[in-house]
Amino acid sequence: MKPSVLVARAIFPAILDKLAEHFEVEANQADAIWGKAEFMARLQGKVGVFTTGGERIDAELLLGCPQLRICANMAVGYNNFDIPAMTAAGVLATNAPDVLTETTADLGFTLLMATARRVSESEAFLRAGLWNKWSYDMFTGSDIHGATLGILGMGRIGQAVARRGAHGFGMQVIYHNRSRLDAATEASVNARYVGKEELFRQADHIVLVVPYSAESHHTVAANEIAWMKPSATIVNIGRGGLIDEAALAEALAAGRIGGAGLDVFEGEPRVNPALLALKNVVLTPHIGSATVPTRMAMANLAADNLIGFLLHGKPLTPLNAQVLA
Ligand code: GLV
Repeated sequence: MKPSVLVARAIFPAILDKLAEHFEVEANQADAIWGKAEFMARLQGKVGVFTTGGERIDAELLLGCPQLRICANMAVGYNNFDIPAMTAAGVLATNAPDVLTETTADLGFTLLMATARRVSESEAFLRAGLWNKWSYDMFTGSDIHGATLGILGMGRIGQAVARRGAHGFGMQVIYHNRSRLDAATEASVNARYVGKEELFRQADHIVLVVPYSAESHHTVAANEIAWMKPSATIVNIGRGGLIDEAALAEALAAGRIGGAGLDVFEGEPRVNPALLALKNVVLTPHIGSATVPTRMAMANLAADNLIGFLLHGKPLTPLNAQVLA
């Protein structure tokens, strides 16, 4: 008998076919959003689950699903997993790092550029038929080339954003991180380590790529926003909860900062109405990794973690490898 796994959301049919070679698969190609009770009911008898980042795995769920052995997230972020609870229950957690680094950095840079150059706002103006003459100050934004780029969170994606800024646009890159990079890595991305306040005060454009946790909740709140230059822009490609959205919306509405580009939101897919009402924001629906090759690579990695662990005891990208011991 093949082991049983659950795929919690709709996914590429080729990934389901690959999983079906090794497992009994319960899929969700209708892409229903299950509540906790239904998710737990469907997990009964399953040894593995393929999650996509929105499914909460916590102590209560683990207690109700004693056969579960692995949760494979098709996302690099894993704030939907309670890792200590999973480790205590002996359940392996895996994520999908690396394969989305460059694609997500591309989107971060896209938002930076669209925000600095007011792309959404000017396109809306044009589409509304309001463009009837040229004027010298129409949609003037801020320069990207040669400007100071501040990166908060200098992991793989942060470094990929830094490379784009330094090598593609001649930007001065400063960064702040829990731990400083070694000198060779700093040199390779042309970045200078600064304190958090200095980063907010000096940067013309800020990109947030910090992993989300209770400690990083509202890393950017009224205080940090007050440090920003009046023309500065801020981009969030990490998790919505990194920014106090109410404080950000207030600063944007008052014109105290230049603009914001947001791909992630505190209560997504619900978006704070105060942000929706603003013109100086560029908003995208959590599409950082959304290219076909990258989403395919992420899905393959999650599937390979299920196969590697359940068939051979060897997951590719474990988050709590201690449960393997
Ligand atoms: C997307 O947000 C991810 O964590 O992969």
